[in-house]
Amino acid sequence: MGATHAACMAELGFEVLGLDVDQQKIDMLERGELPIHEPGLEEMLQRNLKSGRLRFTTSYEEAAKFGDVHFICVGTPQKKGEYAADVSYLDAVVESLAPHLDRECLVVGKSTVPVGTAERLADKLVRLAPAGMQVELAWNPEFLREGFAVKDTLQPDRIVLGVASERAEKVLRDVYTPLGDIPIVVTDFPTAELVKTAANAFLATKISFINAMAEVCEAAHADVKLLSLALSYDDRIGGRYLNPGLGFGGGCLPKDIRAFMARAGELGADQALTFLREVDAINMRRRARMVDLARGLVGESFANRTVAVLGAAFKPNSDDIRDSPALDVAVTIGQEGGMVTIYDPVALDNARRAHPGLGYATSALDAAQDADVVLLLTEWDEFVQLDPEALGSVVSTRNIVDGRNALDAETWRSAGWHYRALGRP
Ligand code: UDX
Repeated sequence: MGATHAACMAELGFEVLGLDVDQQKIDMLERGELPIHEPGLEEMLQRNLKSGRLRFTTSYEEAAKFGDVHFICVGTPQKKGEYAADVSYLDAVVESLAPHLDRECLVVGKSTVPVGTAERLADKLVRLAPAGMQVELAWNPEFLREGFAVKDTLQPDRIVLGVASERAEKVLRDVYTPLGDIPIVVTDFPTAELVKTAANAFLATKISFINAMAEVCEAAHADVKLLSLALSYDDRIGGRYLNPGLGFGGGCLPKDIRAFMARAGELGADQALTFLREVDAINMRRRARMVDLARGLVGESFANRTVAVLGAAFKPNSDDIRDSPALDVAVTIGQEGGMVTIYDPVALDNARRAHPGLGYATSALDAAQDADVVLLLTEWDEFVQLDPEALGSVVSTRNIVDGRNALDAETWRSAGWHYRALGRP
């Protein structure tokens, strides 16, 4: 998120200095290389490095001297073994930056945090900064999706400004003026923090709702894809985040709903969010169901069976494998004795590093060589456009499970494939 925000701010015409404590990352960024896959971002990075509007550093002292506005874009991952979010990276930024802040400036948190964090950090900031009250905190949550980071940053649906003063509001309104006519909602700190968690909880709930319908459709021999299509024509429901399949993964939705439940518990409001436990459970059951469908197609068990896995990223157009449903399924099948070969257009190296014990191939056809079953787990365009005949000529048996409801069932069936999908007869 930080590299995206830095490059986009430079693109808007601001002088930007990006800071990270990881020297290797800074070296890459200075060379115009991105440590992640994000369509359109590398070109923007290079353009702005060239213009001189964008530079990088590892020095907090330099950043403090440089900036009138400091955006904090660090992650808040799930703590090991519990639901709560780990906000220690945020504290570390404030503790490292504040002692160098000796003039008026605004520090703006963009990370997704448990409600109450901003208030706590605001106190810490003023306590540690030599400029005291001249230094102020604001909260401005980030709603970007991976794969659409540039578009979502430059054309956001809305901007939320959690501010404690008119001065902070004015500074942030000025910063975002070049974006044009975007709805701005001005709030206090806790509301701004909650907007982000509520948005992600809603999206996760919508996905799990349609996946719950998929479970019922499976039991009733109905078709969840058509059900979803019919629901989507109702403006009040809408079709986005209503694609049934393997469910949500990634570095945000799963951990954010868990952190939200943990925080609500601390606030004594846990009852309000018990439904998110179900949202999480429905989501995880899709992965188990996928494994069951695949096993059903190859016999009693995966022992001595060859399984081609198409997709490792948690979604298309990303190389992110954090909490990837695709890899989770691949790992389970491997543990059950299946011989798994994975192909993904960009997430292959990340997957191999995380799971060196699984097999990897450099194309979909290579992965499917002699396969007893092919599993489509991340709906990259490249997979949606696969030719059933070409794939059929390399597999051992024409079995496919479409984990994302992305393929045209009739096309595959008429090419002699035994086609199964989550939530469809
Ligand atoms: C999400 C939010 O969309 C974004 O606003 C927030 O800032 C960060 O978290 P992201 O994690 O990049 O963004 O992914 P998103 O595109 O929302 O997809 C999340 C997961 O849901 C993916 O695994 C995707 O495959 C799955 N999904 C999405 C579905 O299973 N069905 C859908 O209909 C939509």
